[in-house]
Amino acid sequence: MKILLLGSGGREHAFAWKMSQSPICEALYIAPGNAGTAAHGTNVDLSPNDFEAVGNWVEAQQIDMIVVGPEEPLVRGIYDYFQQDRFSHVAVIGPSQAAAQLEGSKAFAKAFMGEFHIPTAAYREFTADQLEDGLAYLATQPTPIVLKADGLAAGKGVLICQSVAEAQAELKEMLGGKFGSASSRVVIEEFLDGIEFSVFVATDGKGYVTLPVAKDYKRIGEGDTGLNTGGMGSISPVSFVDEALMQKVDERIIQPTIKGIQERQLTYKGFIFIGLIRVKGEPYVIEYNCRMGDPETEVVFPRLANDLVALLNAIDKDQVGAFEVKEDERAAAAVIVVSGGYPQAYKKGKKITGVEQTEGSLIFHAGTRMDGDDLLTNGGRVIAITSYGETFQDALAISNQNAEIIQFEGKNYRRDIGFDL
Ligand code: AMP
Ligand code: GLY
Repeated sequence: MKILLLGSGGREHAFAWKMSQSPICEALYIAPGNAGTAAHGTNVDLSPNDFEAVGNWVEAQQIDMIVVGPEEPLVRGIYDYFQQDRFSHVAVIGPSQAAAQLEGSKAFAKAFMGEFHIPTAAYREFTADQLEDGLAYLATQPTPIVLKADGLAAGKGVLICQSVAEAQAELKEMLGGKFGSASSRVVIEEFLDGIEFSVFVATDGKGYVTLPVAKDYKRIGEGDTGLNTGGMGSISPVSFVDEALMQKVDERIIQPTIKGIQERQLTYKGFIFIGLIRVKGEPYVIEYNCRMGDPETEVVFPRLANDLVALLNAIDKDQVGAFEVKEDERAAAAVIVVSGGYPQAYKKGKKITGVEQTEGSLIFHAGTRMDGDDLLTNGGRVIAITSYGETFQDALAISNQNAEIIQFEGKNYRRDIGFDL
């Protein structure tokens, strides 16, 4: 099979690493990829959001399968674009545009969960012409309270407000266009106090399998302090997610989600990332994402003992229900090395050294590029360092050691991934 992978982050490097191990994968292309993905295939200079350019290239290269890493092309309808006759032989791994609304619209996701009785925080939604109602509603609510821009806001659209006044000021700003059209509708949600984890489901819209459970660490500072980031590290498995909790997740959340997808006749051939929180022993959905997580993928795929391309084929051929997932017994931990200043302003183009000197880890590039023989930083999250161990602490110790060895000006990383477990 000739496969085109779309995206350029650590998640995509982990996909490329895993897919390139498959005997079914004859040729792998990554658009646009990064300095790391180039070791597993051929990087192609195409934007995942330019469907026409991707389509023409796919046709010319006779690509058999497109695997979509990030949410934006999915929410913009890349699955649907490739339903045209000229692409009838091309499989797309990802949900249709209608199904991608599970991530693309928080209001859609909340209504979906309501309809199929999936446990989640209580909520109300407001548009700009309902600002006064929204402000009055906030005045009646306990704090903290959560405000969410309805649409995609590059991971910045969720605000946890500590007082009614703060929430009211934020609501005004959001409905006034703080996140552009993404916040023309705002979901106001009850704050859930608990511990989060990430569950990944591969589905063809009928059958499904569950991949290894993971947990990510979003805050920039150790001890979960400071601003939210795209993710500073991840671990798998997650000690508190035992069989009993997973059974609840399966019965109360995954099964009704798949049933909802069927009842609403949504086409879904890809991954569902369910962001969950455990409150007093019970699982609730924080959010759906219509793709794999980053940096969770950098620990989930290393612990997936199956051929990933075989799984992708099963998704395409409506056979995923019969697929048997095998988990590597070892724990995995990923540490993300980031640019100084991230998640606020940071500089790109810093020379990275030491990658060759690291030992015993998988190095997944996120924001990197080559300039001649030099490896340069090219983003906020620069490199994910994944290690295995008997426990996640063992794995983390190796990743932390290697994070010390990789050098670039302004380098930053958290040494305490998994600190709360
Ligand atoms: P994201 O949508 O990934 O930007 O998520 C933002 C983060 O906000 C989540 O990972 C949670 O930590 C937090 N969050 C979102 N909704 C709630 C909620 N209802 N209660 C508590 N925390 C929440
Ligand atoms: N790890 C969170 C995300 O991928 O959105």
